[in-house]
Amino acid sequence: MLVRPALLSTWPPEPKDLFGAEGPLVLEVGFGDGRFTAELAKAHPDWCILGAEVSATSVLKALRRMRREGIENVRLYQGTGPFALRNLVPPRSLHRVIVNFPDPWPKKRHQERRLLQERFFRRLSTRLQEGGALLLTTDHEAYFRFALEEAERTGLYRVEVRPPPEAHLRTKYALKWKEAGRAFFHAAFVKVAEDPEPWPPIRRYPMAHALMEGTLPETLPLSKRPVSFPGGVAVFLEVARGEEGHYVLTHVEEEDLTQDLLLEVRPSARGIYAGVCRFGSPLITQGVKEAVRALVRELERVGLEVVQDHT
Ligand SMILES: C[S@@+](CC[C@H](N)C(=O)[O-])C[C@H]1O[C@@H](n2cnc3c(N)ncnc32)[C@H](O)[C@@H]1O
Repeated sequence: MLVRPALLSTWPPEPKDLFGAEGPLVLEVGFGDGRFTAELAKAHPDWCILGAEVSATSVLKALRRMRREGIENVRLYQGTGPFALRNLVPPRSLHRVIVNFPDPWPKKRHQERRLLQERFFRRLSTRLQEGGALLLTTDHEAYFRFALEEAERTGLYRVEVRPPPEAHLRTKYALKWKEAGRAFFHAAFVKVAEDPEPWPPIRRYPMAHALMEGTLPETLPLSKRPVSFPGGVAVFLEVARGEEGHYVLTHVEEEDLTQDLLLEVRPSARGIYAGVCRFGSPLITQGVKEAVRALVRELERVGLEVVQDHT
């Protein structure tokens, strides 16, 4: 089953609401085609396994696999691992985090994109149970050493370097690298202390819109200049004329969360509505509110006036 953050009735969700059951909570980051996830779920039917994967194609493949194999103890989220960790996992609740063959970002200038960095390990410690652990398996020795150093710098983990468990060598990438004759590296990062800095979930708002009065223009020429706000950026990509009004394809980037959503400007019973379109169920965050505010400013420039502001 897919996890759609905007549709969750409690925020952040309780694992029993996500899974309809209680059991050791496990997060797999970057599950790819989900074959490992499926095997893990079958080996531990009492575990509640949450997978986070940025590739929509992979999520679809994995979702089909879970359905085909009748697996019920897995929930899949399309988005980043850090978003899932922050927002879908309560503090001190995780038994395990599994990262198999993370993208290594070998170029020096891309290293900041690596998942397993000091800041990630610090934040992870707020979500792991006492004695909970992250298990890393990779073929990339430089990334492996990097991850060990980053974790050790936090002082929050006991690092155990061991041979990779057999099951972790049956992922799509493991099989590919086995055929290429590569060596494998594995470590367990066991939590021994917790970072004192809390890591609260992202704030979710119930709405973001304004009601305006004036004449809706035939065309809506919006600035393509990015709108920056603390912690992110939004940009209007395209405007389309609909039957009732205008739809604005908008890109919003915030920490660990990128959304492409529709804003809309259309007549309503109470005035001209300028705000989030429910299509695609976007998560209404600070960044989305900032994008709506920018849209309202643009509409003010073409003569509309705000009568009610819920941005
Ligand atoms: C090299 S593949 C490994 C896939 C799978 N674990 C395997 O071993 O076959 C890395 C995967 O991580 C995903 N990924 C990269 N960055 C991610 C992130 N920040 N959060 C979640 N998934 C991510 C990629 O889309 C890709 O599917």
